[in-house]
Amino acid sequence: MGQPDMGASTSAIIDVRGLTKTYETGFAALKGIDLQIRRGEIFALLGPNGAGKTTLISVICGIVSPTTGTVSADGHDIRTDFRHARSIIGLVPQELTTDAFETVWATVSFSRGLFGKRANPAHIETVLRQLSLWDKKDSKIMTLSGGMKRRVLIAKALSHEPSILFLDEPTAGVDVQLRQDMWNVVRALRDSGVTIILTTHYIEEAEEMADRIGVISKGEIILVEEKAELMRKLGRKQLRLALTHPIAALPESLADFALERSADGGELVYTYDTKGPRTGITTLLGALADAGITFRDLSTHQSSLEDIFVSLVKEAT
Ligand SMILES: Nc1ncnc2c1ncn2[C@@H]1O[C@H](COP(=O)(O)OP(=O)(O)OP(=O)(O)O)[C@@H](O)[C@H]1O
Ligand SMILES: [Mg+2]
Repeated sequence: MGQPDMGASTSAIIDVRGLTKTYETGFAALKGIDLQIRRGEIFALLGPNGAGKTTLISVICGIVSPTTGTVSADGHDIRTDFRHARSIIGLVPQELTTDAFETVWATVSFSRGLFGKRANPAHIETVLRQLSLWDKKDSKIMTLSGGMKRRVLIAKALSHEPSILFLDEPTAGVDVQLRQDMWNVVRALRDSGVTIILTTHYIEEAEEMADRIGVISKGEIILVEEKAELMRKLGRKQLRLALTHPIAALPESLADFALERSADGGELVYTYDTKGPRTGITTLLGALADAGITFRDLSTHQSSLEDIFVSLVKEAT
């Protein structure tokens, strides 16, 4: 929070430059992505279906090859230094893919082995306990519920102690209680120094969890901002006044107010900050009365992160 912008590749733990991906079908899923993820942050990638979130994550994790551009993970190029880059990354995929006949313990332990890490039962036990899967350690995966299977995927992704964790829609289909538990695990990981990148459709989730938020639409990143800054924007509210008689122009006495006149002059819109020391509404209404402007109706409107998101995605189309 409040950190300077990190353009330098040295300070970004994930550095994506000029990344494009055109699938064999000819479909351009990523159209020139530049993105720097800061060490130790929780970054939420928001975007509608088909925006390119999974494609972007898959390229960074080395599952899908990029068409052009470069990606490095903690200084390791994902193409020329794949093994090292992949060894520091954990991925919780969007699709539930688990070995149905294996036990929880076996599948999570095996996953660690895939990264060439020496067996560490104590670590596997810690991870399973954190994810409330310890009592299921000897159960076959196919006997678990959907939410449990998703937690197994998280356990697998953490089995090799990655320093960067990608979570692709981790809470899709997970109940409210479990979602809270999951977020506690994610926060604990962040507190232990793990950098976290998650995708979500749930704006509240990004709002609750993220340090920064990125919005992707049609293969392009259209916004990256501190969550705190977005929330500050949320603090803005609009007061709409429907006038009794349309006015041709704003009187001079109202020039100092952040007022906008509608095209037909029938409405005035006043934008104010709900988090500021005063809204200025009382003064404004007094000044309107002094200017002889009366209104027949009024309403207030507060833009939500959802509004911002929807209008951004619309603008980008
Ligand atoms: N293997 C593929 N071949 C061709 N097109 C693909 C392939 N995988 C994805 N796409 C297309 O690329 C676009 C981006 O897909 P992607 O899965 O990255 O979106 P997403 O943002 O993760 O969406 P969702 O929110 O639904 O998970 C989509 O239009 C999709 O149809
Ligand atoms: Mg996806």
